[in-house]
Amino acid sequence: MHTRVLTGITTTGTPHLGNYVGAIRPALAASRRENVDAFYFMADYHALIKSGDAARIERSRLEIAATWLAAGLDPERVTFYRQSDIPEIPELTWFLTCIASKGMLNRAHAYKAAVDRNTEAGEDADAGITAGLYLYPVLMAADILAFDANQVPVGRDQIQHIEMARDLAQRFNHLHEGEFFVLPEALIEEKVATLPGLDGRKMSKSYDNTIPLFAGGPKALREAIMRIVTDSRAPGEPKDADASSLFTIYRAFANEAESTAFRQTLLDGMGWGEAKQALYERVELDIAPMRERYASFMRDPASIERILLDGARKARAIAAPKVAALRAVLGLRPFGAVSATASRSQVPKADKLARFASFRDADGQFRFRLFSAQGEELLLSVAFADPQAAGRLQKRLKALGASAAVVVMQPSSMTLELDGKAVATTPDYPDEQARDAALEVLRTALDELAGGSDAQR
Ligand code: TRP
Repeated sequence: MHTRVLTGITTTGTPHLGNYVGAIRPALAASRRENVDAFYFMADYHALIKSGDAARIERSRLEIAATWLAAGLDPERVTFYRQSDIPEIPELTWFLTCIASKGMLNRAHAYKAAVDRNTEAGEDADAGITAGLYLYPVLMAADILAFDANQVPVGRDQIQHIEMARDLAQRFNHLHEGEFFVLPEALIEEKVATLPGLDGRKMSKSYDNTIPLFAGGPKALREAIMRIVTDSRAPGEPKDADASSLFTIYRAFANEAESTAFRQTLLDGMGWGEAKQALYERVELDIAPMRERYASFMRDPASIERILLDGARKARAIAAPKVAALRAVLGLRPFGAVSATASRSQVPKADKLARFASFRDADGQFRFRLFSAQGEELLLSVAFADPQAAGRLQKRLKALGASAAVVVMQPSSMTLELDGKAVATTPDYPDEQARDAALEVLRTALDELAGGSDAQR
């Protein structure tokens, strides 16, 4: 079974060393784990709530995309996109807004803190508070629920938001009597290092104590490291590694052996200046190759645009059928569509896998269909006189997954070929865009078949 891991990155500010160690590096490591289906996106609609500075948002989302790609995000493996490229997210936000209890939103930490500040200042409780801030948790729930995410890696400050997403999912499932949404879990990494900043407090933009990741090049990195606050021990005096931010940062980059050696040289009296130079060199060793990739991405924003649009296409292949089915459940179907009960059975059931269904056709021949996890028909096989031949083809497709599928594109449908022979066809699609979206769903389904063990189906 694949675990879908999803997280959003708010696009305000420029990534610093603390972001790299605390968020980017662990998220990329998680995306490389087996059986993880990672969805990482830029939460640029959320950024609008925090800042009205268009130039800053624009710069920040480009820098953040380039940073993640330079740090090793593989867009073939990770579905990497911008929230603002997925119209299903604001649509789902509204559906969820209509069932969100105002009382729950009143209790959101960020909103409550804003109210408390107003009250303390003797202002009206809601002075200066936008509905955007108030609805922030609903937008975030839509980000998560649109993709049936199982796990959401976040900082502790975000746990309440995940709880609200679960609450909304449960409420919707209950009101409409179905498993429409997966209940997401917050994933809190306890082991991940939080880096101290220049002054020894947690590295954070709001304390103005950050060390830049790429901005300003190696020179800016070195200068920042030279400004890290230390105690006043002179060269030659023994120094306590555990009481030093230098060592904490060093350890976040070095391996065990390197860290032990660094600890010892501090104890042996290495001067702070020399220690800072050693720290700079160790960090630079990791960062330099990424900085080069970062620069080449920043020189070619169009290449990032292509990657993100491709990611949006993959993401929408999941969100679009889901939201379309929800529209039907809510009474927003096209006029003249089939009976209400029929639509109900088409609603995606969360947490299922793609599957084959074999049958005997009118001519007495054997065929099968492939259905997506959401119950959409994806393929109809050619006819076989022998049921075992049909079974062997299913087996082969299971063994091969999407990698082996040769898909021949027609304007409004597709054919799957194996060993140069057509083995299955898709239904007809209204246009090329729908067909392309279906291809993504098909690839996912084939990979699901290949990924699961036989015992699961
Ligand atoms: N609120 C998150 C933060 O500030 C960013 C975010 C937006 C997010 N949408 C999300 C995180 C969905 C996880 C899932 O860090």
